[in-house]
Amino acid sequence: MAESSERHFFFCFSSWIRQGLFLVLRDFQGLTQIIIPQDEAHSHVKKLLSSAPVESVVRVTGIVALRPPGQENPKMPTGDIEVKVETAEVLNTCKKLPFEIKDFVKKSEALRMQYRYLDLRSVQLQYNLRLRSQIVMKMREYLCHLHGFVDVETPTLFKRTPGGAKEFLVPSREPGKFYSLPQSPQQFKQLLMVGGLDRYFQVARCYRDEGSRPDRQPEFTQIDVEMSFVDQGGIQRLIEGLLQHCWPEEKGPITTPFPSMTYEEALADYGTDKPDTRFGMKIMDISDFTRNLGIPFVQNVLGCPHGTVKAIWIPQGMRYLKNKDIESLKEAARSQFNQEIVDIVCKPDGSLKSLLTRFLSQEQQSELTQVLKMQEDDVVLLAAGEHKRVCSALGSLRLASANLLEAAGLVLRDPAAFHFLWVVDFFFFLESAHHPFTAPHPSDMGLLYSDPTKVRSQHYDLVLNGNEIGGGSIRIHNAELQRFVLEKVLKEDSEVLSHLLDALEFGAPPHGGIALGLDRLISLIVGAPSIRDVIAFPKSFRGRDLMGSAPDYVTPEELEPYHIQVSWPVAEAEAKKN
Ligand code: AMO
Repeated sequence: MAESSERHFFFCFSSWIRQGLFLVLRDFQGLTQIIIPQDEAHSHVKKLLSSAPVESVVRVTGIVALRPPGQENPKMPTGDIEVKVETAEVLNTCKKLPFEIKDFVKKSEALRMQYRYLDLRSVQLQYNLRLRSQIVMKMREYLCHLHGFVDVETPTLFKRTPGGAKEFLVPSREPGKFYSLPQSPQQFKQLLMVGGLDRYFQVARCYRDEGSRPDRQPEFTQIDVEMSFVDQGGIQRLIEGLLQHCWPEEKGPITTPFPSMTYEEALADYGTDKPDTRFGMKIMDISDFTRNLGIPFVQNVLGCPHGTVKAIWIPQGMRYLKNKDIESLKEAARSQFNQEIVDIVCKPDGSLKSLLTRFLSQEQQSELTQVLKMQEDDVVLLAAGEHKRVCSALGSLRLASANLLEAAGLVLRDPAAFHFLWVVDFFFFLESAHHPFTAPHPSDMGLLYSDPTKVRSQHYDLVLNGNEIGGGSIRIHNAELQRFVLEKVLKEDSEVLSHLLDALEFGAPPHGGIALGLDRLISLIVGAPSIRDVIAFPKSFRGRDLMGSAPDYVTPEELEPYHIQVSWPVAEAEAKKN
């Protein structure tokens, strides 16, 4: 079957084969082969297209036809067809490219960022951004159509929020007064609950002045959700349903409900509040076993408050890791956590090699081998010290050694697996420092004024493959309690939040919510190493826009209305600008 078609293409590359001129053109759907018949009538078309530089924009009309038998290309989605050209027009030519638009050509990220609009033409970025758009569309559908949510836009010029991340300031024309760009729409979404918009959501732009990392950008997007008359389980089930609804079919199904773990369990077993549960190598507590072995530094540690002895097991560590790898793991624990690590190696004859052996009898050594479940070539890293520090250090070494094992060829994590996990029951005091609106756990309310460090909060994080992709809480809806947290816990002047405290006194309904980090979620779904790969125009590592050179200098005249003077010589700024 053949049909007439007119399409606008980017001109990609061409080749002379068979009887005609073959060209491969690219448009928003991918690549299409076109063929220019070798006859006098098409000589003009041939001349025009073969002289157009690569990446020029052409309009082609022709007949879509099946390729001759045997000429199909199974590697191309359009590999069964070709377009027999009738007319062609070059709409715009392309000058010499700074890099080739081919995925296998490695070019520096700085150059790609400078010409981001060209990099966006790559197959991978096209896929990432189109998938992101489809996912957001489905999220809107789920929230608005299926669950009665209202999409509300909230301001991005506001004022400082206590706690949380550093905010960007925006000068105003009132001397000495500044707006802040919101780190999230948190206050507004709570005020919407007071305003009776009992199911709010927003694809919200957030700003945090904290530099960029692979999983962080100074401006990023949240799927921000808030509901009245809801509990923790209600928010969790909603989000599980949301993710199931928008999940791309090609990534396989996800099962709900997601497993859940308390913060204390996460810290004890994985040394972090965002455990990567795709693989084992959990932290083992061997305090009880080591208590009576008579090892001096162990005795010391276990005699101190919160003293503990823990270990992680690196399967086949001797086979896959070099001595220098083990040394670098130990050095990382020392420099990042101030934590000493003792390594224990299981030799081929089953005996142990470690500085611990001189403290242990043969019998104790074989007991230790059993407790640690060690086999030939396994390595164990042992840490003795204060509970939180030991757990954090071993949690970090667990990930680092998994990366080393995988780099050496042992497959630990299935790259196609998606392990969601709720982490719950954070400590109220720690939590309030970065989220002053979170409510205490109802069963711990009695402890709030007597032993506040023991109070758990109603905060929950959503973790995917070891990355925090969302966080939320049930909020304080009582003005008096909110004032207590601000003044007594955060030691903040509650005046800065007087509008919110006021609002809570006007019949605020109980409410709670969550925000998903959209960029992180999409980057994990597509398997991108950085969230920059799922953002159309991201900032560089140092928070700059390399394409437009932002931030940029402004002249003293432009600063005048804002009553701002820059302290270093303006001439220097001007010189840099030019
Ligand atoms: P939180 O600060 O935990 O919660 O943010 C929610 C989620 O946003 C993502 N995220 C980021 N993504 C990219 N770059 C960043 N700089 C960045 N910072 C955070 C993370 C994180 O889990 N208002 C609360 C939510 C609530 O309580 O409802 C909030 O913003 O994936």
